[in-house]
Amino acid sequence: MMDTPCTVVPLAGTREDDFAQCLLHGLSRPQKEIPCKYFYDEEGSRLFDAICELPEYYQTRTETALLARHAPEIARRIGPQSEIVEFGAGALKKIRLLLDVVRPRGYTPIDISGDYLMGVTRTLAAEYPGLNLRPLAADFTAALAVPPLPGAHGRAGFFPGGTIGNFRPEAAAGLLRRMRASLGGANAHCKGLLIGVDLVKDPARLHAAYNDAAGVTAAFNKNLLARANRELGADFDLDAFAHYAPYNPVARRVEMYLVAQARQSVTLRGRRFDFAAGEAVHTEDSHKYTPDSFAELAANAGWRLAEQWRDAEDLFMLAWLES
Ligand code: TRP
Repeated sequence: MMDTPCTVVPLAGTREDDFAQCLLHGLSRPQKEIPCKYFYDEEGSRLFDAICELPEYYQTRTETALLARHAPEIARRIGPQSEIVEFGAGALKKIRLLLDVVRPRGYTPIDISGDYLMGVTRTLAAEYPGLNLRPLAADFTAALAVPPLPGAHGRAGFFPGGTIGNFRPEAAAGLLRRMRASLGGANAHCKGLLIGVDLVKDPARLHAAYNDAAGVTAAFNKNLLARANRELGADFDLDAFAHYAPYNPVARRVEMYLVAQARQSVTLRGRRFDFAAGEAVHTEDSHKYTPDSFAELAANAGWRLAEQWRDAEDLFMLAWLES
C-alpha cells in the first residue's frame, strides 16, 4: 500500500512576496502597473476557471482536446516509468489525461501555493495509488534545482495553459532556459518539455477571447483592485475603472489594462494615488506565437522544437521541446 504523500516540500528560492509592496511600487511608476501574478487569489482562481469555460475562450478546451487526442504520441516521446514535472500545478483535468496514458512512475507538481498543492496531491493520491507524488512548493519562475525522482527512467516537463505567453519574449526565453536546467538540460535523463502555446490568429477572435460578452474577463481583471480593497484596505471604486484588452497585431500580444473612467484618487496604506481621466493601469500581456516564432524563442533557450500538435483551426499548439 502506498502511503498518502501529503508532505509538501518547500524548495529553496520560495518566497511569498508582498502584494502591498508590489502594488505600492507598481502604482508609483510613470506607467502604472499591477504585476499579473496577483490575479490568482481564491476569487481570481474561481473567475479564471469561469473564463476557461467561456464560449469565446477557446484556449482551454482546444488544449485539452489536443492532449486527449495526442496522448499516445506524447507517451511515446516521454517513455515509460518516467517522471512528469509540472511547472505550476494547474488544471487536474489536463494532468489526468497525461497520467492515464503516459503512466509515469512519478508526478512532481511545482506551485507557489502549498495549500493548492496539498489539495491536488490528496486528490491524485486517491485516484492513482501507485503514483509517486512529490509536490514541491516553489516559485516555478525561479532557478530551481529539482533533484531527479529516484527510480524514474527519465523525466519530462509539462507547462500547459499558454502561460508562457504571459511573459515578455526575453523573460519567456529566460524561463524556458531555467526549466531546461531544472529538468537536467542536455543530460539524457531529460526527455523534453511539453508546452502549450496560443497562436497568432484573426484579431477579432483574439479580441473576443479577452473581452467576453458576459463580462467574466472584466471581473477577473478588476479582481486585482477588489483584492487590494479586501486585503490591504484600499478604496478602489470598481465601477470607476474599465477593463480594456486590445490585441496589438504588431507586437502580437493582447494587452490588458484597467482604465480610470474619470479623475480620481485612491488611498492605499496611507498613500494617495491620483488617476487622470482615461489613465491606464497595465495588468498583463498575453503574447501570441506562430509555430516558427515559437521555435525561434525555444532555440534561444537551448531547446529544439521536435514536434508540434495543432487543432484543425490552428488556434493553439502543443509543442514538444527537446534539448
Ligand atoms: N494566461 C491567460 C491568458 O493569457 C490569462 C488570462 C486570460 C487573462 N484572460 C485574461 C489575464 C484576462 C488577464 C485578463 O490567456
